[in-house]
Amino acid sequence: MAQPQRPFDLTGKVALVTGAARGLGLEMAKALAAAGAHVFVGGRDAATTNAAAQQICDAGHTATALTFDASDAAQAATAIAELVTQTGRIYILVNNAAARDRRDLFAFEPEAVTQLLHTDLVAPFELSRLVARHMVDAGTGRIINVTSIGAHISLKGDPVYGMAKGGLAAATRALAAELGPSNITVNAICPGFFATEFNAPLVDVEEITQMPRDRSSLGRWGEPHEIGGAAVFLASDAASFITGHTLAVDGGYMTHY
Ligand SMILES: NC(=O)c1ccc[n+]([C@@H]2O[C@H](COP(=O)([O-])OP(=O)(O)OC[C@H]3O[C@@H](n4cnc5c(N)ncnc54)[C@H](OP(=O)(O)O)[C@@H]3O)[C@@H](O)[C@H]2O)c1
Repeated sequence: MAQPQRPFDLTGKVALVTGAARGLGLEMAKALAAAGAHVFVGGRDAATTNAAAQQICDAGHTATALTFDASDAAQAATAIAELVTQTGRIYILVNNAAARDRRDLFAFEPEAVTQLLHTDLVAPFELSRLVARHMVDAGTGRIINVTSIGAHISLKGDPVYGMAKGGLAAATRALAAELGPSNITVNAICPGFFATEFNAPLVDVEEITQMPRDRSSLGRWGEPHEIGGAAVFLASDAASFITGHTLAVDGGYMTHY
């Protein structure tokens, strides 16, 4: 493989980012589009998904809204078929959509455990399989799963989310092994504490806001846009020999003692 002239250039590449109507998904969608990709903005609400895609277009890049519930297998299959009909290909999948349900161990009904595992683990695995069929045919592709520091270290009172994200980290390695022979890389981005709109109230909660300030090497919360570079890197030719890897974007939270 020749050395690429512009290793981070994604011009002509088709990407889908799930849960990209807001938060880190939107930031990754914006970063991929700024690097040249045509980004399909996945979201379950048509109005916010359209608005996010429009925001990217207004910045001079190309994006298309794709409204579907990522945890619904039938909707996901229809959405991927629509995307492939429109473009003929898909090169990048970012499995970002996830639900949060933070409760004590004994407060979870079995149905709630199953539901959270379904949305945060089974759904990205199934979407990966769906998309990978097209990538295998094309002989190339990039899958990026968004996990969490909760995949590697545990927060008391939040058992199921960590279990799901830990499973997704394992699924990343498993899919890398399965799809490597087809020249498809599968990696994970592991965010630490990001001050997204959704997390904004937590920034004012004393015991939580101090966690990244006291424990991370950089001593602060991440700004949402700081997730974008990792997605561009893992999607790019610069990362052609990286697979099965989890890239922590956490300001050094997991490496700080
Ligand atoms: N922010 C952090 O500090 C942090 C830390 C560690 C890991 N993460 C991970 O990073 C990713 C993004 O987090 P975030 O903070 O940006 O989350 P967020 O603000 O809650 O955004 C999540 C997005 O996913 C969408 N979504 C949820 N379930 C969906 C479904 N079934 N189908 C389609 N879309 C769905 C939401 O849609 P609606 O807008 O319709 O609700 C929303 O747009 C998640 O995987 C999260 O677990 C975040």
